[in-house]
Amino acid sequence: MDDSTLRFTSSLDVDSALAFYDIMGSLAHVRMLKKCGIIPAEDADLIIDGLKKIEKTLEDGELELDENLEDIHTNIEFKLTSMIGPAGGKLHTGRSRNDQVATDFRMYLRDAAMEAVDKVDDLIMALLRVAEDNAETIMPGFTHMQHAQPITLAQHFLAHAFRLGRDADRFVDAVDRMNKCPLGSAALAGTTYPIDRKMTADALGFKEPTENSIDSVASRDNVSELAFCAAMTVVDMSSICEELVLWSSQEFGFIEMDDKYTTGSSIMPQKKNPDIAELIRGRTGSIIGGLVAMLTMSKGLPLSYNRDLQEDKGAVMDALDSVTFSAEMLAKVILTTDYHKDRMLEVTQKGFINATDLADYLVTKGVPFREAHGIVGESVRYCIENGKGLEDLSQDEFRQFSPKIEDDIYEFLPVKACVERRNSYGGTSSASVDTQLSLAIKQLMARDDSVREETQFIEKCWEELLN
Ligand code: ARG
Repeated sequence: MDDSTLRFTSSLDVDSALAFYDIMGSLAHVRMLKKCGIIPAEDADLIIDGLKKIEKTLEDGELELDENLEDIHTNIEFKLTSMIGPAGGKLHTGRSRNDQVATDFRMYLRDAAMEAVDKVDDLIMALLRVAEDNAETIMPGFTHMQHAQPITLAQHFLAHAFRLGRDADRFVDAVDRMNKCPLGSAALAGTTYPIDRKMTADALGFKEPTENSIDSVASRDNVSELAFCAAMTVVDMSSICEELVLWSSQEFGFIEMDDKYTTGSSIMPQKKNPDIAELIRGRTGSIIGGLVAMLTMSKGLPLSYNRDLQEDKGAVMDALDSVTFSAEMLAKVILTTDYHKDRMLEVTQKGFINATDLADYLVTKGVPFREAHGIVGESVRYCIENGKGLEDLSQDEFRQFSPKIEDDIYEFLPVKACVERRNSYGGTSSASVDTQLSLAIKQLMARDDSVREETQFIEKCWEELLN
């Protein structure tokens, strides 16, 4: 092979991240070969011993990789053989790098996805903390970026929390779907040896073996699905980030971020820049790019393994890392930011944010909604011309627009009353926010438990394999 061919086809710089999983996969495989009597027990024991030593070297950060070998799988196998001699050559019985790499990557992704869930859940927790402290903090709710109706900060952050909760759930679902073991599918057609695929699947913490050997070595929909999960999550985070950037501007003045999580300008001493939020927003591009790369790489590939598939790792590994770190940082920003309640309330006094409530009031007095809408429109126009808010109008002024408006209107118009009246299920009233908070915490706890259980279960599998 020409040197340039090796350099061109090598995947070592990316798949070296699979080293630990590759060793675990080999440990499971060799124990199975031994138990099924496919290789002699004493060879198997030599292999197990050697693999454990390699794992220890890896753990100590001392595993040296040979760039003349094209990937991590070859590297570990050759290292083993150089340590224990010809017995090492028996490890690759009844498997191929095609099922090996598919198995290794699933294990890697399973861990990376659960770590992402963990950090996204921390972010959700941060949002819920702020929501809990701000069940009474009134702010404008926006549509089209225009003042629409008054809401609470709690209601707003709960919206982000539920949305991110679905993102986290999607990761969990994706992991559950891909949690089947390809090992033993061999090159594409299975193997002639009497292997026990159930045994290796169990040992590696998978639910069961994959059903079809060709599908096992050829499909990467699991990778694309996680790439989507990452993309969706960062898109949702970027929406929070965009608001943090806007809200911290002088024009909004809703929040002030902690110095620890902002940066200064090299020439403008007064600046305090929301760089973390901006960078998360900015990294959305490369994370979405990871999904596009995966789908495009997979398109039109004939069955079964094609070398194109080697390109399935870098972008998605980076995307998952990036989402995990972003969620961690955003949680810190959310928790340490000052939320300026007075300012949020102050701006609700402008912009006729209670206009819908005046219309609703008229409806309670028997005026059809469409007619009420017109009456309010005229009242607002009058207010603008006279520099007043709706709640500043006198009884006489109100009466020129509708005789149905009576004294009780003044209890109706304050923004606090507007918020509390929106007591429909899921609405912004404090009672509804209370209900939502407990629902969100329940969902979070349930997911937390299941992820913790799964992580501990996998840790136990590793312990047993290294035992
Ligand atoms: N480096 C390869 C990959 O990551 C391993 C599988 C190689 N298989 C093959 N038939 N050349 O996909």
